[in-house]
Amino acid sequence: MSAHKFLVDIHTHVYLPRYANLLRSRSSVPLMRTTTTPAGVSEDRLLILDHEPSGGRPVGPQYWDREEKLKFMDKHGIDVSVVSTANPWLDFLPASEAHTLASELNNDLEAYCATSPSLTSNQYEIKRLYGFGLLPLVPKITTSALLEIVQQISTLPHLRGLIMGTRGIGNGLDDEALDPVWAAIEKAGLVVFLHPHYGVDGKAWGDKDYGHVLPLALGFPFETTTAATRLILSGVFDRFPSLRILLAHSGGTLPALSSRLASCIDHDPVVASKLKHDARYYLGKFYLDAVAYGPEELGFASDVLSRANAYASGATEPRVANRTVGSQRMLFGTDHPFFPPLSATEKWKSVTENLEAIDNVQGWTEEDKAGVRGDNALRLFNLKE
Ligand code: URA
Ligand code: ZN
Repeated sequence: MSAHKFLVDIHTHVYLPRYANLLRSRSSVPLMRTTTTPAGVSEDRLLILDHEPSGGRPVGPQYWDREEKLKFMDKHGIDVSVVSTANPWLDFLPASEAHTLASELNNDLEAYCATSPSLTSNQYEIKRLYGFGLLPLVPKITTSALLEIVQQISTLPHLRGLIMGTRGIGNGLDDEALDPVWAAIEKAGLVVFLHPHYGVDGKAWGDKDYGHVLPLALGFPFETTTAATRLILSGVFDRFPSLRILLAHSGGTLPALSSRLASCIDHDPVVASKLKHDARYYLGKFYLDAVAYGPEELGFASDVLSRANAYASGATEPRVANRTVGSQRMLFGTDHPFFPPLSATEKWKSVTENLEAIDNVQGWTEEDKAGVRGDNALRLFNLKE
């Protein structure tokens, strides 16, 4: 009998109780409040986006209660989760508050993970929960405060990376002021999970009410696409070649636009002169979650990552021989507790669709699929201690 292969969810969120309490105490977005439905039922609602559509989203204990996370994992056969605070992190706080809260929440998340149950395989023991810490990336924060928190995260044994949004300390992630932070993250070997929150200018959505569909389906991935592209253009990967950055939602639209990006750079000699490589090479610096809901999208993203690897090997016009290399940089995720089922069902469609997508990618071998389901995460986060 072959050994059990772990299913690892690397895109799964929590509002830790300390953070949920902060949201409850607020009267402007982001906030959480209790409302009464027309049927007289009291319900917590989460308002985190600017111009939040439809009065916010209903939320419940699955957003903050660790037992609910473990129950969800059990229901879906998820062995291990690498949990991150959900957006908008600390972005809305003044610097000193963000600094203190980052440190407290990192300690909270370490305890959340360290006291979780363990699993054993034939050769090693593993916790069911690991985490991404938080940096106080807000305007006016000092570099030394950021470096202190990178250092804190790197010493907390169950935190294996950090989650960040796209604004940096106010000027985006291509801000040279972040260079010491990238250097420290690279040195500590932490994985950066780059996740959207702001979307793009809401004017693009027109004035019809389509609920959360446009900001979540398009705005989120467009935001990630822009942030990742600015990272490439700023030369971050030339200066910090060992940085490991995981992009949410399979990299948004960047895989589909990378050759166009390369062409636009080629036609702008000033920009081109600042980069050491073809833009498509830099795609291979990223890891992508497999939160794309369809096998064709996953297969395509893995082609683009495979091609990036070929660029890295010095080919000038690489063609992709197979999808395996790219698949090794892709990792299963659920986005729990967002996208819950609308009625009580055995399993969440947002999970089963992502698992079925992995199963059905043309050209991925069984080993490639096992990699995306969990083996790649075990390797990336060094979970087999
Ligand atoms: N909606 C959010 O606000 N965040 C997520 O991570 C997913 C959906
Ligand atoms: Zn998410």
